[in-house]
Amino acid sequence: MKYLLKMLDLSTEEIIDILNLADQLKYELKHNIPHNLLKGKTLGMIFQKASTRTRVSFETGMYQLGGYPLFLSSHDLQIGRGEPVQDTARVLSRYLSGIMIRTFEQKEVEDLAEYGSIPIINGLTDFSHPCQVLADLMTIREIKGSFDGLKMCFIGDGNNMANSLIVGGLKVGMEVAAACPDGYHPAKEVMDFAADYDCFTLTDSPAEAAKNADILITDVWASMGQESEAEKRRAAFKGYQINDEIMAVANPDAMVLHCLPAHREEEITTKVFEAHANEIFEEAENRLHAQKAVMVKLMAD
Ligand code: CP
Ligand code: NVA
Repeated sequence: MKYLLKMLDLSTEEIIDILNLADQLKYELKHNIPHNLLKGKTLGMIFQKASTRTRVSFETGMYQLGGYPLFLSSHDLQIGRGEPVQDTARVLSRYLSGIMIRTFEQKEVEDLAEYGSIPIINGLTDFSHPCQVLADLMTIREIKGSFDGLKMCFIGDGNNMANSLIVGGLKVGMEVAAACPDGYHPAKEVMDFAADYDCFTLTDSPAEAAKNADILITDVWASMGQESEAEKRRAAFKGYQINDEIMAVANPDAMVLHCLPAHREEEITTKVFEAHANEIFEEAENRLHAQKAVMVKLMAD
């Protein structure tokens, strides 16, 4: 494994390997067992969008691994003034041990990997959010014990989270149902991948997707960069909400995940969010452990 650009690139074995290492690193951290696996390494973190979890978990994770993280805002880098990503990749490859990037277009991340000579990690694009989904899979396995026989349901926008959850969920062997309104379906590449799985369904009915689900997941109606569409999207996504009615058709012990930030009373009610806050904040914590595992897999000697 040389890069983490999107879930589609990972094999089932690579996903499970990352989750196993993430569990081990979480255990070691809780038991104060040092794991300076990236001593002397540096990670550049390029952010073209806002972040709370991704920034702080990568920065802290790199520190805990004995390495050094550099926060690189696109407002300060020449990339923000138009320097091509191809040149940025070749320059930064001569200073750093790895790069994490959060940006808009998936192509920018792919270009960084093509032109750079160091590991590249996708910290969110409009197409994909692999770090989040690895943390989500880690949380599901931690709470449910295994992926065997589980049904995962996603309700909402067929955007970066849906694209990555569908691929990740199917790769680890879960049944996956997605409910997305017309015009907001997952990407074609993801639908083509899922077409080979009998256990995948796409519907416009949240209740149908949630029926007998073991895991319910949603995401914001308007993602970063789509703020000007917020009003139009509020109309399009009306009813695509995790609420008491949806919980009533899911399995009684169903868990709820949300990548955060959450917009209460839009994609999820306050009541459901607070009832499942332990799961949702464990998921947020697991960003730290899952990303540490990714960095070790990609950057350790
Ligand atoms: N879930 C997630 O990626 O959070 P941030 O946008 O705060 O990094
Ligand atoms: N779909 C959301 C996820 C945030 C972590 C966004 O792209 O803004």
